[in-house]
Amino acid sequence: MSSRRIVWTGVLMFAVLLSANVAIGLPEIPSSAFQPSSGCGCHAALIEQWQVSMHAQALTDPLYVLKRDEANKATDGALGPFCDGCHSPIAIMSGENKSGTLSEVSIESVGCDMCHQITGTDGEIGNTSLAFDADGTKRAQFDDSVSPVHATAYSKAHETAEFCGNCHNVNHPGNGMHLEATYTEWKDGPYAKEGIICQDCHMTPGPGVTKPNPGKAAAMGPEREHIYTMTFVGGNVALGDAARAEERLQAAAQLDLAVEEIVAAGQTVALKTTITNVGAGHYLPTGLTEVREMWLEVTANDAAGTELLKERRMFGTVLKDASGKFPVELWEAVGIQSDDRIPPRESTSNEYDFTMAEGPVTLTAALYYRSAPEEMAKKAGVEVPVTTMASVTKTLYTSAEQRATAIEKESPRAAAGFPWIWAVAVALILAGFGGGVLASHLKKS
Ligand code: HEC
Ligand code: HEC
Ligand code: HEC
Ligand code: HEC
Repeated sequence: MSSRRIVWTGVLMFAVLLSANVAIGLPEIPSSAFQPSSGCGCHAALIEQWQVSMHAQALTDPLYVLKRDEANKATDGALGPFCDGCHSPIAIMSGENKSGTLSEVSIESVGCDMCHQITGTDGEIGNTSLAFDADGTKRAQFDDSVSPVHATAYSKAHETAEFCGNCHNVNHPGNGMHLEATYTEWKDGPYAKEGIICQDCHMTPGPGVTKPNPGKAAAMGPEREHIYTMTFVGGNVALGDAARAEERLQAAAQLDLAVEEIVAAGQTVALKTTITNVGAGHYLPTGLTEVREMWLEVTANDAAGTELLKERRMFGTVLKDASGKFPVELWEAVGIQSDDRIPPRESTSNEYDFTMAEGPVTLTAALYYRSAPEEMAKKAGVEVPVTTMASVTKTLYTSAEQRATAIEKESPRAAAGFPWIWAVAVALILAGFGGGVLASHLKKS
């Protein structure tokens, strides 16, 4: 058999294997059982938040459409429904993905009523393990909600990370390996032990755990001590809420740069960078990490602009196929070749060195993030900007004298810094004290 034949047989076998195994664990429910967001007028503030989220665009997102179409092509159409199952459960449950005519609720992807008619988990967590009771009752965390237009019910499920984990753990439909494991990363980490769940970070106004967030859940409802926002902000600066995503990325990592600041010319400068995952409840980065790009860049330049050091390190997962080849596409993967991401509250260090030039030398370490590689973004027709998550700059000198002269030149007052500030402070304290003594003296007399 020619090698080309072998490859084709492999692809075909793979497609057959997939079509036999791609079981989507979702019930059959007509789309008419779900209400589009336009019918949720009492929750105008929540609609505004959700509309700009990636949940609202999960099915129409050009990066998604590009990858799904590639997956479909590679597997003879076997994978498309599996992908759509998470990116728009209603499109699959209603069969609209087959007819090709999508209703408003299907296009709304991961929408209000889809989430609020979920009752829990059906089977093992992941791969759209959602359970529904689509009787029109809206379920969430309050046990005292009264609505004039729909039934309400308390739902414990909505107050758990498993609710999110149903979709935020993606396993290969053929071989079961984890392709995305945000839920498992959280579950095995420190936040799960402390009871801090996805909702506490992704459904509150700012980065971090911004609780309590008092307000009204519905225009006519009572003032509540804490309500969640339907923001679901992650790292998508290109298609999601850019300002909020940027703020979140910048709160995720702390970057430290340790280096001796005075090194004689010709000597070796040794430096160490440390990145700590201070803000993410899961690995950094998480999710679709064979596509996401996070990298550390360390550069050193002398005053003339000569580059003394330039190093780049990527963080992510690399997938391999059955023959050991890597990197490969999601659907070809049977295992993980490498994974050097940073677990929650853990750190990763790197050491570098270079030969010191005539000072001053500017040293910069910066951590960057981009949702998708340039080439993929171009193919999908979207612009995906780079976000600086953290950055540290230090100036190195060849001697203490060079440092003093440079600082003096930059800001004469700062060079004199301490003594000058202290002199003013002492004068102020003395003046205040003197004034007080004088005042009490005058009062007495
Ligand atoms: C990805 C699923 C999801 C989507 C999409 C979603 N919600 Fe929610 N919603 C939740 C969860 C989960 C909670 C409760 C969080 C908790 O208790 O930890 C909640 C809480 C609520 C509440 C209770 C009040 C509050 O704000 O805490 C209301 C009302 C609500 N959502 C309405 C909406 C509306 C309207 C939309 C669409 C614009 C929407 N939701 C979209 C999952 C979702
Ligand atoms: C029905 C499946 C489903 C459920 C349930 C779900 N998600 Fe998602 N979520 C998705 C999909 C699909 C995407 C990717 C959309 C895209 O980028 O095209 C996503 C994306 C996200 C993002 C990334 C946004 C960004 O800026 O890149 C965050 C954060 C997120 N979800 C949080 C949550 C939280 C928190 C919950 C639980 C309250 C939850 N999700 C429940 C399917 C789901
Ligand atoms: C302690 C706060 C915290 C908790 C808890 C948390 N996250 Fe995150 N999450 C973050 C931060 C910060 C980011 C941005 C940095 C990043 O992309 O990892 C993020 C990013 C994400 C992204 C976008 C990843 C990307 O690069 O596109 C998704 C999806 C997500 N979280 C889902 C979840 C889910 C699901 C859970 C619960 C199982 C969860 N998060 C728990 C803080 C948290
Ligand atoms: C079990 C649920 C699930 C299934 C099935 C699923 N996805 Fe996703 N997908 C997600 C979640 C959750 C995210 C968000 C993760 C993150 O932000 O990194 C996502 C994000 C993506 C993104 C990134 C979108 C963006 O704007 O950055 C692409 C592309 C994507 N998925 C493609 C696919 C393809 C192709 C398939 C089928 C082979 C598929 N997905 C199947 C849950 C799923």
